[in-house]
This record gives sequence, structure tokens and C-alpha cells, in this order.
Amino acid sequence: MIKLVIASAPGKVILVGEHFVVEYEPAVVAAVNLRAKVEATLREDELTIIESLDLKKRVTLARGEECKDFQLKPIHKIVEEITKLTGEWKGINVRISSEIPIAAGMGSSAAVAVAATLAISKAFGLELSKDEISEIAYKAEEIVHGKPSGIDNTISTYGGVIAYRRGEGFVPIECDFSGYKLILADSGIPRSTGEMVAKVRALRSRYPKVMEPLYHSAGRLAIEAAKAIREGDFVKLGELMNINHGLLSAIGVSNEKLEIMVYTARKAGALGAKITGAGGGGCIVALVEDGKVEKVAEALKKVSKKIYVLEVSMEGVRLESS
Ligand code: PMV
Repeated sequence: MIKLVIASAPGKVILVGEHFVVEYEPAVVAAVNLRAKVEATLREDELTIIESLDLKKRVTLARGEECKDFQLKPIHKIVEEITKLTGEWKGINVRISSEIPIAAGMGSSAAVAVAATLAISKAFGLELSKDEISEIAYKAEEIVHGKPSGIDNTISTYGGVIAYRRGEGFVPIECDFSGYKLILADSGIPRSTGEMVAKVRALRSRYPKVMEPLYHSAGRLAIEAAKAIREGDFVKLGELMNINHGLLSAIGVSNEKLEIMVYTARKAGALGAKITGAGGGGCIVALVEDGKVEKVAEALKKVSKKIYVLEVSMEGVRLESS
């Protein structure tokens, strides 16, 4: 009997520090209770079959054949990387399904890559450490995003809430988010993370002396936010999220729609609200006490395309069955 391996990994929400993290300032990111699931089964022949239920795509590749589908290529890269480690070619079926919305800044590609790395490595009989899983997933992410900061694959592997600094790694932040929800509201405006990062870089190079203190401030803010989370001071965390939103507006990644969503959430009682991720479109995140969730959610529904009421999830990548 050929066994089926199922692994899953969480999506993420950046609580503070996006964009500034690209320039080596710290950021704080939380894993959330939406997960990507990957099933892997060894085959008796040498084919690699990769199927995404959400993208409604399937590729069949012979041994050594290049994957030409841009969206499934990262998963094929993972199969190749793991094959390099085992030193033995084996055919495999990989089936992907995910609860994480695509291109909404919730780290869906990284969660798929992390879950795929665990499922495929297990099916090939390989035991990888979490560090190794995150590293292989990063290689897949490079195909999607060019030079990502590494924040997405890290949080998806480890779960919980972490303070992350590019080039230095991360520290887990002890926390208890029970009694609080993160409400994400999607503007419905498509955006490209790469384009937004380039836009910010261009502004920074035009006004280096003006922008430098903003980056420094964002770095300090992330450290204060990490402390507030550890102390369970959600009022302070909300306030810091609001300040962070101001800094994101200053570096040019907000727009009228996002501002309306942010102010709607605050007016309805959120402790804090800000853009999350690249901005220019995509989502805002609001930090909300359980008692106010309904009111904030109702208000946000009127000004956004879709909302998600999420919980922080302490669990990173995990095996569902093997
Ligand atoms: O749009 P998202 O959620 O993938 O976030 C991008 C975060 C940036 O800091 C803008 C880029 C990065 O690589 O960290």
C-alpha cells in the first residue's frame, strides 16, 4: 500500500513593520487560523503530478522535465530540492488545497510551499527540521517573489507570533491573543507586492534624509509592539498599529479606499487598524476585542469586498496524517 501524507501550514498577518522590514528593520507577524493543505503520495512510475484545486490546474511532468506553469513551478522546485537531498528519483502526486485567499497579503504561496515541503519530504522518507523546511520553502518563494524578506515562510513554518529581522532571523514572542480577533478587510483592489516595494524604494531614494527617521521610527515601533504583545497590553498594541499605519501612509502605500476602511474600523471600536502587507490595495487589519467583533465586522462589510474574522494560531506547519 502506497501511503498518503497530508501536511498543513498557516497563513499570516503582518501586525507591524511591512516595507520597513525590506530595509532590515524588525517586523512583527502572526500566524492565523487559515491553512493550506498539501497531500503527497508516492507513485509507482517516475512522473511528478502537481494539482492545485484552488487554481484549477494540473501538470504532469516526466523525470527531468521543466515545469512551465508559473504558479505550479515553485512546488516542482520543492520536489527537485528534496530529490537532491535523497539522491533518488521517485514519482509523486502532489495535491494542493487552501483556505487562504490568494494574493491578499496573507501569505498563501508561502503556506503552500511550507506544507508541500513537509508532505513531499515525508512521502520520500526524509526527516527535515523546521529550519530546513523553511529554507526549502524560501527557495520556492524566490520563484514567486524574486527576493522576498523571508518573513512569510518563517511564520508559516513556526506559527505563533514572531519578531523578524531580515538577515538575522526571528524570535518567537510569548503571547495570549484569547479574547481578541484580527479582522481583515479586503479592499478588492489588486496590487503587486513587487511594484509597491519598488515604489517605496524610489521615494526613499528621492528623499533619503526625510525617510531615514521614518524607518528608524518603524524599527523602534516594532520593538515596542513586541513588548506590548508579551505583556498582553492590547490597547498599546492597537495604538502602535495606528502609528504604523501613519508611517505606511507617509511612505506612499495607502490610498483613499484603504484609509476609509482603516477609519471605519477605528470608529466602530477597533483597538487599532492599519494596512497589512504591501498596501496599494489588498487588506487592512483591525485588532478587535471579542465584544466588539460584530460591530466592527458589520461596519467593515459595508466598505470592503470581503472580511475575514481571524484568530492568531500558535501552530505552524504540521502533519495531518502519514
Ligand atoms: O503583500 P504581502 O503580505 O506579501 O507583504 C509584503 C511585505 C513587504 O514587507 C512589503 C515585502 C516583504 O518581502 O517583506
